[in-house]
Amino acid sequence: MRAVVYRGERNVAVEQRPDPTIEGPLDAIVRITTTNICGSDLHMYEGRTSVEEGKVLGHENMGVVEAVGSGVDRIRVGDRVSVPFNVACGTCRNCTRGWTSFCLRTNPTEGMDGAAYGYANMGPYDGGQAEYLRVPYADVNLLRLPPGTDHELDFAMLSDIFPTGHHGCELAGVSPGDSVAVFGAGPVGLMAAHSAMLRGASQVFAVDKEKDRLALAQKIGAEPVDLAAGDPVAQIAEATGGRGVDRGVEAVGYQAHDPTGQEHPEMVLDNLVKVVRSTGGIGVVGVYMPQDPGGADDLARQGRYAFDYGTFFTKGQQMGTGQCPVARYNRQLRDLIVAGRATPSFIVSYEVALDDAPEAYDRFDRRVDGWTKVLLHPAA
Ligand SMILES: NC(=O)c1ccc[n+]([C@@H]2O[C@H](COP(=O)([O-])OP(=O)(O)OC[C@H]3O[C@@H](n4cnc5c(N)ncnc54)[C@H](O)[C@@H]3O)[C@@H](O)[C@H]2O)c1
Ligand SMILES: [Zn+2]
Ligand SMILES: [Zn+2]
Repeated sequence: MRAVVYRGERNVAVEQRPDPTIEGPLDAIVRITTTNICGSDLHMYEGRTSVEEGKVLGHENMGVVEAVGSGVDRIRVGDRVSVPFNVACGTCRNCTRGWTSFCLRTNPTEGMDGAAYGYANMGPYDGGQAEYLRVPYADVNLLRLPPGTDHELDFAMLSDIFPTGHHGCELAGVSPGDSVAVFGAGPVGLMAAHSAMLRGASQVFAVDKEKDRLALAQKIGAEPVDLAAGDPVAQIAEATGGRGVDRGVEAVGYQAHDPTGQEHPEMVLDNLVKVVRSTGGIGVVGVYMPQDPGGADDLARQGRYAFDYGTFFTKGQQMGTGQCPVARYNRQLRDLIVAGRATPSFIVSYEVALDDAPEAYDRFDRRVDGWTKVLLHPAA
């Protein structure tokens, strides 16, 4: 099969690989119909992780089941499925409590709970930016979709970013009537804004500096806040009569930067602590790393982020963090799509063939105007 392989900083290649096979009785093989490039892939692409060369990338996968192991009894050959980015066993202490993103059994990496396809430090699993993908614990890790090709682009958002945006809102405690500030209007931030509205937020701000992304946020009814036009905290304070917001979502991560591009990894956390009201909630789904060799300063290189903890404490705020347990939300979000209530595909800007992946990575990485979310179709 053909697959997108990491070959070093800002270098991915489409290479020939052996087709994956059923290695254990609980495995399935999925023929990939759609697989997305994610902002998380860019951390690897930019050389800001320890991912090994030769890794097949891709954790946002969907397709049709091609083969199942002898112990798989729920999922059938021919099922159309969404593949959550988490690789989970379904039966460990964390999985049974709904925390499939912190599975205790699937990631052999020292000190890391939780595994994923095609990702640095997340276990030995190849990604799905390829023609086929092996899925361990298939009954646990596959969500069945209605057969056919309807809603393909919406369903493609179910493996990661739609649940992740939703998780950011869940961690922040977004409830009907709340005002919400989402920092980062990349794919994850836009999904968080979409989810906040589905959850009944009364007012949603979306903060970024990329005009095309802010325009998308506005299109779905969020209020765009342009970082390049001045302090976003002051802008939101002004728009809320000085009160700030009830909830905040962090959808930027450790490469947060000012409008000139200078990195300040603590910048968005500080902004959220300032702009969320006392006793309000903050959901951090943007990724922060325990080590970052390319970090802006000594602290950042050790994964230590000097954010305004004193004010956070004084305001009695709550903060939730971490990778999204996709299986906790994907059924309900699928059904919202089928019912026509959710349309996460509004962020999709380009659909390309697998061979075009190197070019697509480059454009998405440079945030070229309009390259918001890129989908790969391996069969194209
Ligand atoms: N927790 C999870 O399960 C999970 C899942 C998927 C992605 N992620 C993470 O979520 C983050 C966002 O992902 P994405 O795909 O949207 O990435 P992205 O890089 O496309 O989007 C990030 C956006 O943040 C903006 N930004 C940068 N500095 C900012 C600042 N100071 N204030 C406001 N906006 C700023 C950028 O302009 C960009 O548009 C990444 O860190 C990614 O790794 C986490
Ligand atoms: Zn992703
Ligand atoms: Zn588990």
